[in-house]
Amino acid sequence: MKKNTEKCALVTGGTSGIGYELAKLFAKDGYDLVIVARDENELSQTAEELKQQFAVHVTTLAKDLFKTETSQEIYDEVKAKGLHVNVLVNNAGQGEYGFFEEVDIQRHLDIIQLNVVAPVYLTKLFLKDMIAAGEGKILNLASIVSKTPTPLIGVYSATKAFMYSFSQSLRNEVKEKNITVTALLPGATDTDFFNKAGMLNTIEYHENANGDPADVAKDGYEALMKGEDHVVSGLKNKIMAAQANVMPDPLQTKNMREKHMRNIDGTEGKEGASESEGMRQAASNPTRDDGEARKPDTGRDSSAR
Ligand SMILES: NC(=O)c1ccc[n+]([C@@H]2O[C@H](COP(=O)([O-])OP(=O)(O)OC[C@H]3O[C@@H](n4cnc5c(N)ncnc54)[C@H](OP(=O)(O)O)[C@@H]3O)[C@@H](O)[C@H]2O)c1
Repeated sequence: MKKNTEKCALVTGGTSGIGYELAKLFAKDGYDLVIVARDENELSQTAEELKQQFAVHVTTLAKDLFKTETSQEIYDEVKAKGLHVNVLVNNAGQGEYGFFEEVDIQRHLDIIQLNVVAPVYLTKLFLKDMIAAGEGKILNLASIVSKTPTPLIGVYSATKAFMYSFSQSLRNEVKEKNITVTALLPGATDTDFFNKAGMLNTIEYHENANGDPADVAKDGYEALMKGEDHVVSGLKNKIMAAQANVMPDPLQTKNMREKHMRNIDGTEGKEGASESEGMRQAASNPTRDDGEARKPDTGRDSSAR
C-alpha cells in the first residue's frame, strides 16, 4: 500500500546508476515518479519495472539536458500533466577525462550545461512551486571531488564544487520556508559514469570505482529525508573529505593526480585511452553519434542493474 499518496519525486538520470537506485527508493516509499533521461527504451524499461514492483505512477520524459531549453520543457510538461513535484533530484551528470587542452570545448560546455546549468534552471522553476506549497525537498548530486580539485577531470570537479556550494547557500536561504536542500557526495561508484567519461583505463576506475550505487543512493535518500545539509557516502570517502578540509589545496590536488587520475599503463590523459573509445562516445552523447553499443562490456557488472 502506498505510504506517500500524492507525493511525487522528479529524478533526472533516473534510468541508470545512482539515479536509478534513488528512483527505486522513492517508489518503495510510495512516491510517484517523473524520470528524465535521453534513452527512451531505458526509460520505458525502468518505468515498467518500478510500476510492477511498487505500484506507483511513473511519468517518463525523454529529454537531453545538454540543451539549455530542456529544463523549461520539463517544467512545462510536468505542469501540463497536472503534477506537483515535492522532491527534485538533480542527479544526471557526466565528466570527461583528459588534459584540459585535449578535450573538445563543446564537450566541456555540455558538461557544464548538464551538471550546473540544468540543476540551477530546474531548481529555479520547481522551487517557486515548493515555496507556494509550503514544503519541498531538493537533492543535488555533488561528489567527493566537490572538495578536492582534480586534475585531468578538472572541469567536472569544478561543476561538483559549484553544486556543493550552491546547495549550502540555497539551503540557508530557504530554511524558513520548510524546504530542505541536501548535497550527496559519493566517491568513485561502480556505474556507467566511467565509460561515458573515457576513464576505463584509469587507476581511479580500476582500483577505486567499487562503490555500490545502491549504498550511495541509500545514504543520499536517508540524508534527504532527515533534511541534512550534506552526506559523504562511505567511510573511505568520509576520511578523504576530512583530509581535504585540512590539507593545503595544492598538495591535495597533486595527490589526486598521482594516486587516482593516471592510466593504468602509467600514461596520463587520452594517450592511454581505451580501444572502446568509439563506443563510449556514443554513450556520452548518443544524439551526436550513431548511438550504437552505448554500454560496452567492461568486463564487470558496472551498470548497476
Ligand atoms: N559514479 C561515480 O563515481 C560518481 C561519483 C560522484 C558523483 N557522481 C554523480 O552521480 C550522478 C549520477 O551518475 P552515475 O554515476 O549514476 O552515472 P550513470 O550511470 O552514467 O547515469 C547517468 C544518468 O544520467 C542520464 N544522463 C546522462 N546524460 C544526460 C543528458 N545529457 N540528458 C539527460 N540525462 C542524461 C543517463 O541516461 P541517458 O544516458 O539515457 O541520458 C543516466 O540515467 C552524476 O551527477 C555524477 O556526476 C558519480
